Amino acid sequence: MCGIVGYTGKRQAYPIVIDGLKKLEYRGYDSAGIALQQDDQLTLYKKAGKVKDLEHFIGERSTDGLTAIGHTRWATHGEPSDHNAHPHLSQSGQLAMIHNGIIENYAQLKSELEKEGYRFKSETDSEVLLNFIDDIRLKNQCGLEEAIRIALKRVTGAYVILLIDESQPQTIFAARKGSPLVIGIGADEHFLGSDASPMLAYTKEVVYINDYELAIVRPDELVLKNLGNERITPYVQKLDLELAAIEKGGYDHFMLKEIFEQPLTIADSFRGRLDAAEARIVLSGIDAIEEKLLNARRIIIVACGTSWHAGLVAEYVIEELCRINVEVEYASEFRYRNPVISSDDVIVAISQSGETADTLVALERAKEQGATIFGVVNVVGSSISRIAHAGCYTHAGPEIGVASTKAYTAQLTVLMLIALKLAKAKGTITPERFKELCQELDAIPNKVQQVLKDQVERIKAIAEKYKDARSMLYLGRGYNFPTALEGALKLKEISYIHAEGYPAAEMKHGPIALVDEDLPVVFVASRDTYHEKIVSNMQEIKARKGKVLAVVTEGDEITPNIADEVIWVPQTDELIAPLLTVVPLQLLSYYIGVYRGLDVDRPRNLAKSVTVE
Ligand code: AGP
Repeated sequence: MCGIVGYTGKRQAYPIVIDGLKKLEYRGYDSAGIALQQDDQLTLYKKAGKVKDLEHFIGERSTDGLTAIGHTRWATHGEPSDHNAHPHLSQSGQLAMIHNGIIENYAQLKSELEKEGYRFKSETDSEVLLNFIDDIRLKNQCGLEEAIRIALKRVTGAYVILLIDESQPQTIFAARKGSPLVIGIGADEHFLGSDASPMLAYTKEVVYINDYELAIVRPDELVLKNLGNERITPYVQKLDLELAAIEKGGYDHFMLKEIFEQPLTIADSFRGRLDAAEARIVLSGIDAIEEKLLNARRIIIVACGTSWHAGLVAEYVIEELCRINVEVEYASEFRYRNPVISSDDVIVAISQSGETADTLVALERAKEQGATIFGVVNVVGSSISRIAHAGCYTHAGPEIGVASTKAYTAQLTVLMLIALKLAKAKGTITPERFKELCQELDAIPNKVQQVLKDQVERIKAIAEKYKDARSMLYLGRGYNFPTALEGALKLKEISYIHAEGYPAAEMKHGPIALVDEDLPVVFVASRDTYHEKIVSNMQEIKARKGKVLAVVTEGDEITPNIADEVIWVPQTDELIAPLLTVVPLQLLSYYIGVYRGLDVDRPRNLAKSVTVE
């Protein structure tokens, strides 16, 4: 979702900000723009389309300047167009602003401003906020800093804003509530970004700005204040991230690179945490609240999208191993209904980005009601990781492809470690079974590697054959039911083919009506307790002339005689299987998307980090 970049320092700002916007393209956007401070005037360029369209539009025009702010917009209020693109210029022409988030009371502010004679060039809530700030500045004859503070006290909603003022050279004003903002510190220069990727090439020292903080950024100083005008000491952190991690490294797409990284990222998720030989799990992240978890009345997992699917797997595994009641909630529903939450509940938030607006707000509400918050988050220093009482990072590294792949398997790995550790502490698992599962988990990176090595050509061929399907059904049972949901979500996102995931037995209660010779049905059918039952479900599809594509365990002699297409995965324990069976489904979606000629890394309408509700 909207990307924000800023620079002020001794270098030309334009190439830094443009390059930064390209680094943020993965977040999803539909227009881009930049505002430069040039001598004592502001110059704005903005365009619907991609950053390269903006560059093309700017062409030979002047881009000189040592301070600039840039934006990629993911439309919320008003269609993607040149005039709705950011930055916006205030009516006075003195301020330029970019905004990520949604101003919920913008309609009221807009009508107040219209009564005073303001006219708007865009349909955005952002232009309203900008003029609201400017109006306060002009009426009160105060500085911009003071005006921002007054304005933000009246604003409801979420925002990161960056402003420049034609009369204050080399100064960027920035504030946040609910949307992410990172400031990178260089030698006599500062970088601003929605995440650290635009500044990685220049600095490893960053400050994560918190809600209700206002930053005044100049080349040689970073002043941080709260909305009460009190100074705050910036907490400088060192980034543990290399530039190579956000580049394609020879792969055609980030998504493919990230799928192929999984043997490594799964191992990274348990590195230093799992000692399979000694049957030991060390997870310092849960130590502080282990007793709370063990005695929890309920564990409530709150997440969205793929992370929600990881939560479903965790529900099955934690209930099986720990005998603790687990509920899995869509964050967007949980935050708005009136859930019964008590101090005996532990809320587990799962999020790759750590910035998903619905998840974040759901946690804030639960925290207010006394629940303990535990985060399973990938992005270090993200908002969710900071509001949680405790948590474990998933250590998947930056995920750039919009479709979550390696972040999902890293989430599963950490959730399985948590389940195993709790089960051991609670005494609900025998030492033999504990050791067995530790060893199975430890063996997964090699097994994923084997799938990537042996199955890719087969999956490519299947993808080519089924790339024109109009719809696909994904079925699984037990631990593989969430995998079916995840497989269907991946296909929808990447190929724009309609897909549904269902528990296989539920098929008879409706979806079976869809089955004919044109409907490919993907079965996640690795060997487990339910295997015979899922084989019967396959027969039911075949009896109705449906096409069966099956992910099965090596050595399975029955399924290949029924299925039209077979993809093999190595044998593993059924609890651990979701880590393995999802990989062929990621590849299938990827290759179908590629064969359909689509931009798999940046599917239409999607945003990597959904920072608005
Ligand atoms: C996954 O492929 C999606 N793009 C999406 O469903 C994602 O998982 C969801 O938006 C949640 O994001 P988060 O993990 O960053 O909170």
